[in-house]
Amino acid sequence: MTDQSSELIHGGLVTKSLDQLRLEPNLRGYDELIKTFKWSDADSLVEWFPGGKINSAHNVVDRHALGERADKVALIYDDGEGSVQKLTFRQLYEETNRFANVLSKLGVKRQDRVFVFLQRSPELYVSFIGTIKACAIASPMFPAFGPDAIRDRLLDSSAVAVVTDAELVKRVYQVKNQLPELKHVIVVDEADAAAGEVSYRDEMKAASAEFQTVHMDPEEFQFMLYTSGTTGKPKGVVHAHKGIVQQTLTSRWVLDMHEEDVYWCTADLGWVTGVVYGCLGPWSCGVTQVGLGGRFNPEMWYRAIQDHGISIWYTAPTAVRMLMAKGDDIPRKYDLSRLRVLYSVGEPLNPEGVKWALDVFDSKPFHDTWWQTETGSILITNFPEMPIKPGSMGKPLPGVEAAIVDEDGKILPQGEEGNLAIRPGWPSMMRQIWKNEAKYNEYMRNGWYYTGDTAQIDSDGYFWYVGRADDVIKTSGERVGPFEVESALIEHEAIAEAGVIGKPDQLRGNIIKAFVVLTPGFSESDELKKEIQKFVKSKLAGHAYPREIDVVETLPKTRSGKIMRRLLRAQELGLPVGDTSTLEG
Ligand code: PRX
Repeated sequence: MTDQSSELIHGGLVTKSLDQLRLEPNLRGYDELIKTFKWSDADSLVEWFPGGKINSAHNVVDRHALGERADKVALIYDDGEGSVQKLTFRQLYEETNRFANVLSKLGVKRQDRVFVFLQRSPELYVSFIGTIKACAIASPMFPAFGPDAIRDRLLDSSAVAVVTDAELVKRVYQVKNQLPELKHVIVVDEADAAAGEVSYRDEMKAASAEFQTVHMDPEEFQFMLYTSGTTGKPKGVVHAHKGIVQQTLTSRWVLDMHEEDVYWCTADLGWVTGVVYGCLGPWSCGVTQVGLGGRFNPEMWYRAIQDHGISIWYTAPTAVRMLMAKGDDIPRKYDLSRLRVLYSVGEPLNPEGVKWALDVFDSKPFHDTWWQTETGSILITNFPEMPIKPGSMGKPLPGVEAAIVDEDGKILPQGEEGNLAIRPGWPSMMRQIWKNEAKYNEYMRNGWYYTGDTAQIDSDGYFWYVGRADDVIKTSGERVGPFEVESALIEHEAIAEAGVIGKPDQLRGNIIKAFVVLTPGFSESDELKKEIQKFVKSKLAGHAYPREIDVVETLPKTRSGKIMRRLLRAQELGLPVGDTSTLEG
């Protein structure tokens, strides 16, 4: 491994030899396709039921299990502690059938909301897909969430069931009395029958391995995920079964899945990347996927790539930066030669990350991909056949019209910074914000879907991320709303008011920083700050707490009493404070 990046980057472009990909890329001829492709061209990538009905779970599992891939390994689950479990498509089919039968027996009805609140495990995939088969809406929930985060999600969606384990269920109990519509608590290990819990193991054992996957209208919902905005509690982003068309297409065209690939997505199923590209899309392509348990650990990650012969790897910039920080000696200990293509998502991928990969992974760069919980699949990306411009998100998927627009929806000239907007109508686009039409409508303006990001386009048509147009914080690639953190903070007795911003950070992209006004009688100390951090972590989630807390006398507010986070951020970063005409006098 020599310094290969310098040989491969010319004039800011990483030129790739297609031999590096080892297989002919699925997408060839982008320039032609961007002009000619129609969404109906992709319909044949999935199987439909008579009368135009569909079920994404049929495409993800059943069609392979009932066809030539029945004995192919679908899941290699590596718990990170030495135990590896493999499930073929046939086994995944039978297990998901059983789970669908369990839900039907419990009386879960069409489009009821079922939450999957589990650590990474085979059961996580089984219950998620089984729920979709049974025509309910599956909602995965990040296992680090605390009681407040759980309550907000289950309450807003009127969830009827949650699948969890003996450890995580304790957090559900802390808020269960506030969830009158939650009827079933299904516990994977050691259920407590006396407490009314349903035993996953017992019910699965008793259930039939036969189930008729429900035929759904393409517009009916397959899954929903809660995500953060600038204001208010997290909102439920709802996705239709039709989305599987684009989820399959992008897995082929962008992630370049071929029959012989072994693929690993590092994202948890609690986030959209894990759902779409750590479960649905790749399996719809019939590819073998690796699921890795445990926490981030460079040795374990490289070992997994080596041991399972991973050829396609989808990860996030923070992970790339953490691996870079650990140095190049660790990867040298492992045989990583099966890797063909690497991808990243969730936050800007620094050019250094692209270059580092060229050096460490034998001339293979990371391909940056851009999308959101709301978009349901990748919309802008660096395609395998194209040269990469390090630092750029790449180009729009054929079928996607992306532009930089102003507040009135006018397309801005090339090179100008503005709102990144997409013309609505792509198949995997969210269908609604759960029970909140007004929130949904906020995205849709002047005939465009406003992404909330700002960006610009260069003269070659490559898109460059600039930042968020709103106050949403991306920390280690995870999306956090300042309002949620502020709400948790002010529940602490020592805090009267709080304002929260994202502060740029080398490793994590951003960290969460809080400015707090203390309640009279409390005074600033390191102990108090630590206690506050612990308090927020336990209520919200391990990743959603302020790593920095500043105690202040007052917070800048508008005359209507809204905290001006923009000002806090400008002050913190030494930027111009801009228009302050609405500031409280
Ligand atoms: O700000 C953009 C950032 O992540 C946001 C979407 O977050 P989420 O819904 O959690 O989905 C993340 C994974 C699909 C975007 O609005 N983002 C995503 N990809 C990139 C990115 N920022 C810069 N570069 C990217 N490639």
